Amino acid sequence: MFERLQKKWKVSGFQLFLIICTFAIGGSLTGYAARKLMPVLSIDQKWLWILVYVVLITILWPLAVLIVSIPFGQYSFFNKYIHRIGSKIGLVGKQKAAHMQPAGDSPHFRIAIFASGAGSNAQAIIDRFRAGNLAGISLVVTNNPAAGVLQIAEKEHIPTLVVDKTAFADGETVAQQLKKQQIDLVVLAGFLWKLPPAVINAFPKKIINIHPALLPKFGGKGMYGRYVHEAVLSQQEKESGITIHYADELYDHGPIIFQARCPVLENDTVATLEQRIRQLEHEHYGAVIEKLLADKL
Ligand code: GRF
Repeated sequence: MFERLQKKWKVSGFQLFLIICTFAIGGSLTGYAARKLMPVLSIDQKWLWILVYVVLITILWPLAVLIVSIPFGQYSFFNKYIHRIGSKIGLVGKQKAAHMQPAGDSPHFRIAIFASGAGSNAQAIIDRFRAGNLAGISLVVTNNPAAGVLQIAEKEHIPTLVVDKTAFADGETVAQQLKKQQIDLVVLAGFLWKLPPAVINAFPKKIINIHPALLPKFGGKGMYGRYVHEAVLSQQEKESGITIHYADELYDHGPIIFQARCPVLENDTVATLEQRIRQLEHEHYGAVIEKLLADKL
């Protein structure tokens, strides 16, 4: 049953859990508020009492669910869900309901994610754009046939492209593939190869990268994954963070779009620091992408 719902609503298992929590808490709140309000109205006739109760529940339920959906990060899902119900019962115009269609129905912007590893950032970005039609992940590109990101792409039904060194180095083939797929934004999420000039030139200001440190410090060739955090710890830095920047032909180089900081604690290990940074990445990368794309509208 849960799998059917996941497919129907195009959501991950975790998002489905949050949606169910929202339904449950929103429903209980509605019942509680209605029970408190009904005695205040002091209605004697039974039929009128039932009628008012039904009307009250109909008004309170969407409100309660929308409010509860905010802390659960599911506002966008429930906003569309309620609009769809509204359109079915004729309360919301058809045009509005069409605009509120679920994710994946011809998104406005098409994103390609480049990744070489596990793909936790890719997953967070996919989840972020699952609801709404601002953007969709249309392609996952990797240089590593064993990359975890390929399993994510398969699970999410996203087309993939595995590139080999020679074809990638000339750049034209990949640039053509991206153009053919009508990609609007290239998102590097742990992609370990430098991009060739042909790709950079084909997508001016349309390629962004995330780096797990505060650039310009701790960037450049060989500075990826745990190596970055090892360097930060060995230099006894008091803070680290993430940098999201436009990519150019150099490693971890290009105009900075966004940085977020976090402390480096005295007893930090590479693993604990990496975990803190990973959380920052998941929290901010999708949001920054969303803002960049929304500004283009
Ligand atoms: C992230 O730390 C990112 O900053 C770096 O590579 C890592 C990718 O991790 N560029 P994941 O594959 O998204 O889990």
